Amino acid sequence: MKPEATDTNFGLRELLAFYADAGVEEALCEEPVDRFSERPTARERPAETRGNAAGGAPSSPPAPAPALAARSERIPAPAIAPAASVPDEAQAARARELARQAATLDELRSILESFDGCNLKLTAKNLVFADGNPQADLMLVGEAPGRDEDLQGLPFVGRSGQLLDRILAAIGRDRTSAYISNVIPWRPPGNRDPSPIETEICRPFIERHIELVNPKVLVTLGNPSTKLLLRTTTGIMRMRGKWAEHETAGGVKIATLPSLHPAYLLRNPAHKKLAWRDFLAVKARLDA
Ligand code: URA
Repeated sequence: MKPEATDTNFGLRELLAFYADAGVEEALCEEPVDRFSERPTARERPAETRGNAAGGAPSSPPAPAPALAARSERIPAPAIAPAASVPDEAQAARARELARQAATLDELRSILESFDGCNLKLTAKNLVFADGNPQADLMLVGEAPGRDEDLQGLPFVGRSGQLLDRILAAIGRDRTSAYISNVIPWRPPGNRDPSPIETEICRPFIERHIELVNPKVLVTLGNPSTKLLLRTTTGIMRMRGKWAEHETAGGVKIATLPSLHPAYLLRNPAHKKLAWRDFLAVKARLDA
């Protein structure tokens, strides 16, 4: 829609939408603060650069403070330092060990709730574990939560979720007869792609998740979940619509159909017919 000439808020709305798309969602204070122009106050400056108690000159010439050190003096430490973990192979090994310990979905969820080995958790508002019926014979796995999912703590509730619901309805299913989760259970900031090590840290949890649900049919939605769960480097356009098997850690093979991600279909509606074909194949397999 073209902005009306009289719509004086148009520029502001566009700017806010730009910020929201970039992942900036919270205003920290009413007025902008130019941190670059800030100078340390007398109280904040290191003692040796301040005057003496009588207000005179320092008793000895101040050593030139390194620029970085001076800057860090001015940045107040957060009241509670978040427990950040560097995402590395050690965290991935910990994730594998913890995921193995989960004997039920409830246990898996509480392990994820207390797991601090993935930095994505620090910026996410909620854990997005799953939605739907864990007893269902159909499980779908997407990539990672977006903004709406992060706010609600549920997968696929935004625009692509609404399309996914319509796709499910087309084969006579809804969230009482399907179970939905993601490879990554925390929203990456600004919807950026999860890094390879973040994905490796989350891998054992989604693999255990699938193993515990043990669906008759698994659908991987889009490239990242297809590549991860089928351990392939082949792209989704070549993989979609072809039956494959996801093998659990315990050696159980689950019939898996890769299909197109609903967010991709929203951008490329002409490809909806391909997804339609995929889901007819899913229905036939489930009904067999
Ligand atoms: N895209 C995904 O892959 N998962 C969601 O939950 C939402 C959007």
